[in-house]
Amino acid sequence: MSSDLYGAQGWAPDSWKQRPALQMPQYPDPHALEQALARLSQLPPLVTSWEVLSLKQQLAEAQEGKRFVLQGGDCAENFADCQSQVISNRLKILLQMSLVLVHGLRTPVVRIGRMAGQYAKPRSADSETRDGVSLPSYRGDVINAPEFTLAARQPDPQRMLDAHAHSAMTMNFVRALIDGGFADLNHPEYWDLAWAKKSPMAARYQQQVDAIRESIRFMQTLSGAPIHNLNRADFFTSHEALLLPYEQALTRRVPRHDGWFNLSTHFPWIGMRTAALDGAHVEYLRGVVNPIAVKVGPSVQPDQLLRLIDVLNPNDEPGRLTFIHRMGADVIADRLPPLLRAVQADGRRVLWLCDAMHGNTESTGNGYKTRRFDNIRREVEQAFALHAAAGTRLGGVHLELTGEDVTECTGGARELTERDLERAYRSTVDPRLNYEQALELAMAIVECRNGH
Ligand code: PEP
Ligand code: CO
Repeated sequence: MSSDLYGAQGWAPDSWKQRPALQMPQYPDPHALEQALARLSQLPPLVTSWEVLSLKQQLAEAQEGKRFVLQGGDCAENFADCQSQVISNRLKILLQMSLVLVHGLRTPVVRIGRMAGQYAKPRSADSETRDGVSLPSYRGDVINAPEFTLAARQPDPQRMLDAHAHSAMTMNFVRALIDGGFADLNHPEYWDLAWAKKSPMAARYQQQVDAIRESIRFMQTLSGAPIHNLNRADFFTSHEALLLPYEQALTRRVPRHDGWFNLSTHFPWIGMRTAALDGAHVEYLRGVVNPIAVKVGPSVQPDQLLRLIDVLNPNDEPGRLTFIHRMGADVIADRLPPLLRAVQADGRRVLWLCDAMHGNTESTGNGYKTRRFDNIRREVEQAFALHAAAGTRLGGVHLELTGEDVTECTGGARELTERDLERAYRSTVDPRLNYEQALELAMAIVECRNGH
């Protein structure tokens, strides 16, 4: 098959350069940029084409209701958090949430981390001013550093090589954990809640783990042999494909498949701010073979969405295109149904995920960016109901969470208040669910889905 059959006519890994590219840093030294990109394009990829195609197949099954997608992780990773404990806790919470979902929804779960490459952030302003001094905004560790000095804020192309290395280290550790049996249900130590023994959620979670382990034992007794494929968990990565020179350098051909693959991640998505139809990010994404996603905010009109489908999935390929709606609990009932109806009426094949975080961000009186657990839950609940009413299907969720005991979102079973935010607010960007809130949300998702 020629790559043109993917609908990528006139496309090349650098054809995005002919379009307006929003959110791009201005590198002060073009020669240093060229050198870094030349090196990056020689370095080995982070994922393989067969993993990418296997995810596409799983997302196609999710479109048909045969799987549920859990996509989650940090708003932004940073280099300093590339540590064994942080990575294993993040993997652990995602696996634990997926266990709750598998058990409650009776559906296999596709697990996708926002990790091993989630280093670039879109910003609402190009510069930040403090005490009369203006510096470039912090755009994520792949571009610059958060400290408020000119040296830190100057975009540095070497950081792209560092981001590749940190992604590779993260990926290496995740693969080793999973290969070593981290996700094996026969190893209770991997599933325990040592960190949350006092959690109001612990008893409910423990019952579910016990129930699952009991059914595995039962099946093993019936078949007289250990069930091997239960020991292995597929785990995929995703990040926002924002910094296009970086994405381009990791866009490769492979020996046994036609087309170009983005091999920096399995599942690149583009954010709400860079989803313009004639923009560089849409142009880049339309040509890669990967499954891809677009964030859809409350201002998107039905015809815009249909035109995005025309460009990004012209052949109606299963598993190819995901829309991640991120409306906000107060407006989803108003904004989502017309979009669902338009796509449905046109018979287009997309996977719908609900990002229940980004439409629910607010600032507290004491100056923190936060999100209320109840609003997050309310958005998920409405999303299930609205899809059911429109005859479409909510195929999964997209969440910002961490395996650490942070206090960034309010509410949840422990009823965190604005005053608790001071205790452990660590995010440099958006507020994340902590491990307890994340697990509680997984249980809430089951309740919301089963209510419809
Ligand atoms: C994000 O996912 O961190 C993000 C910036 O989202 P959005 O593009 O939906 O605002
Ligand atoms: Co975010």
